Parts: sequence; C-alpha cells; structure tokens
Amino acid sequence: MPMNLPPNSMKRLFIISNRLPIQLVRQESTVQLLESAGGLATALKSYLQAQDRSSFEPDEVVWVGNADFSRELWEEFQQSKRSTGTFKIEPLWLDDDVNDGFYNGLSNSTIWPLFHYFPSFAEFKEPNWQAYQQANTVFADRLAELYQPDDVLWVQDYHLMLLPAMLRERCPEATIGFFLHIPFPSFEVYRMLPNRWREGLLQGMLGADLIGFHTNDYVQHFEKSVQRLLGIESKLRFVQIPNRPVRVDLFPISIDYERFNSSYRLPGVMAEREAIHQQLQGNKLLFSVDRLDYTKGVLNRLQGYEKFLENHPEWHGKINFVMVVVPSRSEITSYGERKQMIEENIGRINGRFATVSWQPLVYQYRSLSFEQLCAYYTACDVALITPIRDGMNLVAKEFIASRQDEQGVLILSEVAGAAAELGEALLINPTDRVGMALAIEEALSMPVKTQAERIKRMQTRIREYDVVQWADDFLTQLFNAKAQQNQWEVR
Ligand code: G6P
Repeated sequence: MPMNLPPNSMKRLFIISNRLPIQLVRQESTVQLLESAGGLATALKSYLQAQDRSSFEPDEVVWVGNADFSRELWEEFQQSKRSTGTFKIEPLWLDDDVNDGFYNGLSNSTIWPLFHYFPSFAEFKEPNWQAYQQANTVFADRLAELYQPDDVLWVQDYHLMLLPAMLRERCPEATIGFFLHIPFPSFEVYRMLPNRWREGLLQGMLGADLIGFHTNDYVQHFEKSVQRLLGIESKLRFVQIPNRPVRVDLFPISIDYERFNSSYRLPGVMAEREAIHQQLQGNKLLFSVDRLDYTKGVLNRLQGYEKFLENHPEWHGKINFVMVVVPSRSEITSYGERKQMIEENIGRINGRFATVSWQPLVYQYRSLSFEQLCAYYTACDVALITPIRDGMNLVAKEFIASRQDEQGVLILSEVAGAAAELGEALLINPTDRVGMALAIEEALSMPVKTQAERIKRMQTRIREYDVVQWADDFLTQLFNAKAQQNQWEVR
C-alpha cells in the first residue's frame, strides 16, 4: 500500500512534454541556448521560475522532452558547464521517421486538427499511429529508468496521451498527472478517430491519477467519450475504472501575472513603446500576435478588419493594425498553405485601402522578444484575438496583465478557452465579420473609464489564479486524488 504523501513532500517533480523549454543552436564556434516558444513551454517555465511562490518544494525538478538538437550539441553544451536554470533537463531522441510520424503526423495532422474542430484537415494514417505509439514508448522506457518512489510524474499535452497508462504499467504505484493543453472536443467529433485509436487514447489518459483540462466543457466532453466508448461512468468527477477511480477536473492555465504587469515600467519596454507611439503619429493601434496556425482565425480577422475599413471610411488614415505571426510547424503542408493565404489577403487589403501616406496593415512574420511583445501590448488601443478554436489562449491574459495603465480593449473570440474567464472583453464569434467590425468600432469608441473598469476586473481574476496557483492547484488535487484512491483501496 503506497503512503499518502503530505502535499510538499514530493521527492522529484518530473515535467514531461514533447517540447523542451530550451533549444540549442550552433553559432560560429559556440552553442547558444534559446528559449522555446508556445503555450506549454512558456507556462511551465514561468511556473518553475516563480517557484519560490509555490507551496511545493521538490528536491529537484526534471524536465523530460524530445530534443530538437543533436546529441553532440547537448554534450558540448554540458561540457561548457552552463546552467539550464532552476531545473534539470533530460532530453531524449527519437529516430527521424518515428519523430516525423509522431509529431508532424499523428500529433499535428490528426489530433490537433480534430480536437480543434477541423476534421477535414485530419489524416488517419496507420504508420503515424504506430509512430505515435513508438514515441510514447520511448518516453515511458526512459522514465521507468529514472523513476524512484515518491517522484511525481506530470505528463503534458496531446503528444503524450498514451504515456500515463504506459507509465502505470511500468511503475504501478507512481503518482501520475496528465494535463491537456488543447480542447477536448465533443464526443461526436472525438468519435471520428478510428476505433482502436479513440479507445487507446482514452485508456492511455486513464493511466493517470488526475486528468486536467482548461474548461468545464472539455471535462464533460471527455467524460462523455469515456462513457460512450469505454462504457465507464463518472461520478462526482471520478471516472470509475476498476480498483482505481481517476479524478478529472478543470484547471484553467494562466501566466506569471507579476512579470507582465511589472513589465510596463521596464526601461526597454518604455523605450520601445515610445518608439511605437512616435511612428503612429497619433493614430490608433490594433494589435494581434499568434503562432501561424489555421486554428488562430487570422484570415477571419483580416476579413473582419476589411469589413471595418469598408464600413468606416472616416477611420482611413487614422488606424494601423500590426499583425505579428510567429513561424510554427512549417514542415506541415496545411501550415505552409495558410502562410500563403494570409500574405495574399494582407496584400489584397493593403492594395485596396492604402495611400501614399497610410498603410492599414503592418505584417511581421517573426517572433518578438519579451520587451517588444510587452511594448506592443501596452502601446495598442485594441488587442484583437480571434481564434476559431483555442484550448485557452494565453495572449489574451498576457495583454490584460500587462496593462498597468488600465487602458486598452480586448476583443476576444467566444471559442477561446480564456473567454470563460474574461467575460468583460468584447466577445465575438470569429466567423461573423460584421460582428467583428462592429466590435472594433465599439472598442475604439469605448470611454476610458469603462476600459479601466473592465480591465481591472479581469486583472483581479488573472492575478488571483496565476500560473503558480494553477500548478499548485493541479498538484494539490493530484495528491488528494491519490490519497482518496488509497482510502478506497483500504475499504
Ligand atoms: C499548442 C500546444 C502547446 C504547444 C504549442 C506550440 O499551444 O497546446 O502545448 O506549446 O502549441 O506547439 P509546438 O508544436 O511548437 O510545440
């Protein structure tokens, strides 16, 4: 019988994800360490960096992930004795063809599109399913070598949905958590997966003691899929599998509120903001930033802005829209095609409305530094975030947190997970371009006092449940779930 661990007595915390928080690249004769982008890496890294505020004090944190750098670079980096921060990194390497079928294939050309309600983009290729199983097995085997009693294994995201059950098989007593960073779709969409896959993924997740999602809807969709496909009922948020009920619950992921809020007065941010204001020459600024992804609704956003310009000639010459698109998953055809479509539309809209002295759209295809990002967040009048589907969307929370001046308006898609917490934003349906044009107009004419009231309410909510609260809440519930299972076994 395993012991019930008091909440802060975990030995080591393993964060397990496909993407590692760091990348290594060779620059001339040295190995450079770069930070990885993306929701998962950013959120978990900010949790680990703010761990002095956490109520958990593991002896060590180890991040296990799929390296996108070579073994040689890693060895060289280790020899240089440079640190990766407050946590240890355990990279693992997959064969190229396994990695391709696992990452580009099943993860990002099946699960990703299907779970974001793009079934027509989903491919169902058996070799990709096999590669996905192989990749999850490589993680499981490595973790079984590393595991010691009282370690906590926290598996992240849709790349590793089979891993909890594989770990349970190898380390039956382990405390295992699983968190899904993307939506869990409705049963009618989920069932579109081939039978063995859809059952396998559910069984895989049920190897955990606690399964976390961003919203209540995702929890319910998961419970319904388990009930319809595996015939297992849930009671009071416990899935009743034999011998070991599995807890499911919602944990809306968040950001390091203080880091974004205090960025307002960083000298670098102030200087960038000033430069942006000078270039705007009194014009209003609309801003958006997303990874390049068809789920982010960039084309819909362009259509909404075009409608706004069409309906409001009085705004011509007085508004600029800076749209930043961050390169992502460029080896996948649907991503490359999307880039082309976005760029064609930007060209067309600028061609339609631009004059010698005014360009309505400024497009940047690159990532921004933290300071540049915060400068745009705090210089803009309106942030336009219009995903067609999004698990959470941390950009929305970052924008609100960074507005120490309590100014600015958030226009947010109603189908972003963040909409459940940010009801004071102007919520829009991303397919409704007329509605989006109206929201832009409303945002631009919103009185300063109303902006402040709305921002303050949203800030309070994000501050109270920041990324440290999120992780602590998950880990606390994980220990509770384990303790409840143990009591259940005694009975
Ligand atoms: C989504 C996932 C995140 C991931 C991000 C970047 O937001 O939910 O977990 O960090 O995409 O994806 P990438 O393919 O670059 O790891």
